[in-house]
Amino acid sequence: MKILQVGAEIFPLLKTGGLADVLGALPQALLVEGADVRLLLPGMPAILDGLDKSQVVCEIGAVFGAARVTLRKGVLSCSGVEAYVIDAPYLYRRPGSPYQAANGQEWPDNAQRFALLGWVAAHLAAGELDPAWLPDMVHAHDWHAAMACAYVSTNPASSVGSVFTVHNLAYQGLFEPGDFPLFGLPSRYMMPTSLEFHGQVSFMKAGLKYANRVTTVSPTYAAEIATAEFGCGLDGVIRARGREVSGILNGVDGAIWDPATDAYIPARYSAGSAKTMAGKARCKAALQKALGLTLDAKAPVFGVVSRLTSQKGLDLVLAVVPELLAMGAQLAVQGSGDHTLEAAFTAAAEAHPGRIAVRLGYDEAFAHTMIAGADAMLVPSRFEPCGLTQLYALRYGTVPVVRHVGGLADTVVDAGDAAPGAAGAPGATGFKFGPMLPNALAGAMERAVQVFRQPERWAQLQQNAMAQNFSWGTAAKQYMQLYQSILSGAKAV
Ligand code: ADP
Ligand code: GLC
Repeated sequence: MKILQVGAEIFPLLKTGGLADVLGALPQALLVEGADVRLLLPGMPAILDGLDKSQVVCEIGAVFGAARVTLRKGVLSCSGVEAYVIDAPYLYRRPGSPYQAANGQEWPDNAQRFALLGWVAAHLAAGELDPAWLPDMVHAHDWHAAMACAYVSTNPASSVGSVFTVHNLAYQGLFEPGDFPLFGLPSRYMMPTSLEFHGQVSFMKAGLKYANRVTTVSPTYAAEIATAEFGCGLDGVIRARGREVSGILNGVDGAIWDPATDAYIPARYSAGSAKTMAGKARCKAALQKALGLTLDAKAPVFGVVSRLTSQKGLDLVLAVVPELLAMGAQLAVQGSGDHTLEAAFTAAAEAHPGRIAVRLGYDEAFAHTMIAGADAMLVPSRFEPCGLTQLYALRYGTVPVVRHVGGLADTVVDAGDAAPGAAGAPGATGFKFGPMLPNALAGAMERAVQVFRQPERWAQLQQNAMAQNFSWGTAAKQYMQLYQSILSGAKAV
């Protein structure tokens, strides 16, 4: 089966969040399953630089406001996966984030930039750009790639199947109705039954309406987005797809996230015994030292590695600082994003030196140091399609304290009663809380600290966490089944 994976970012070349990790790992896992996988990516400088053996496949010419668009093909130096890259300097030769200028503003021509990505996918699938390789399946990720599904649907002669994966329904790719003629689609696509969304053009709807199947990155999020609470105004569209919407959990790339081999962390360790775990204490001490926290093995360190946005619920963490201090705990935060949150965390760190430390900015290597060095990771999200940091934490024996929502609900097993002598839940891996309230988070942290102070129970929790296996192999098998069922014309069950 020939599969074209389409997305806007890819680890390690260009990353703003978990989407890049998924596009970095899923293609390789599908190759292991025997699929013939290629990627289609926009030619941002970091992506073009990461393409080896780059050859011109086709001079596309002047489209979407660019005078020169060229389709290149090569091999990603980081993974060896074959990739098509759209070389369109006028649209893509911009440093930094694929979506925004350095001042945080969305690029004003994102409509053209990402319509082009979907348009090239559909024309590749139609055999117009590289007749030597015709995909059976186009798999588009998030709104950036979603127009692929609409463009594929305009070609009645095409037999290519399509899957659209929602990594985050909150980012929808909405554009002014006046932009619609730029897309070269028939006018019926500007109807409420199609791409129109409250008067705007919605790229997200292109995926939700036209893909053969829609997936999300966890089963719980698939159910949640069919409700008004989590549906971001699109819950009706999602409910209308019925069983054609399903959830497939993300995995962890063990080549990158493994405490036994991780070159970014100061000491390596693995599950098993106190001896094999000894490196974790060294990682904790190194983290405390690096951040200027008081060097204290007995103080539980709560870590946060996150985009600082409302989604991540970190305002709750700020609200529980007094409780955290009263518990004798420390807080280590690495994040970037919302300036108000950045300022609030900075102020908290200044007010409590040695107890709270914050590193603003994006630092891939230090994320490993944080996840290995913390005792517990806080992920108090308002919504979370899957969440990868709690999966990485589990693998590093760093106990997740999470809100019971989305992929967090699917991947963490609550330890139950933390009182000394209590049996605790068998197979527990972390702590969960429900209401989006500071005292609910504080309660889960308090339970975590109580178990932390019972070293045998904590060690058991760590072993349970490290025994979890959220593998890309499992996810890839599920995607293969989904692709096969589409190609065989099976109804969703
Ligand atoms: P999201 O994609 O919503 O941001 P995920 O948990 O799926 O959330 O993925 C976040 C990814 O980004 C993880 O790989 C995490 O380690 C990384 N990350 C987030 N913030 C930072 C940061 N400030 N520095 C380094 N890595 C970060
Ligand atoms: C999105 C979601 C996150 C998910 C990631 C990868 O960024 O916010 O929950 O893990 O995509 O699928």
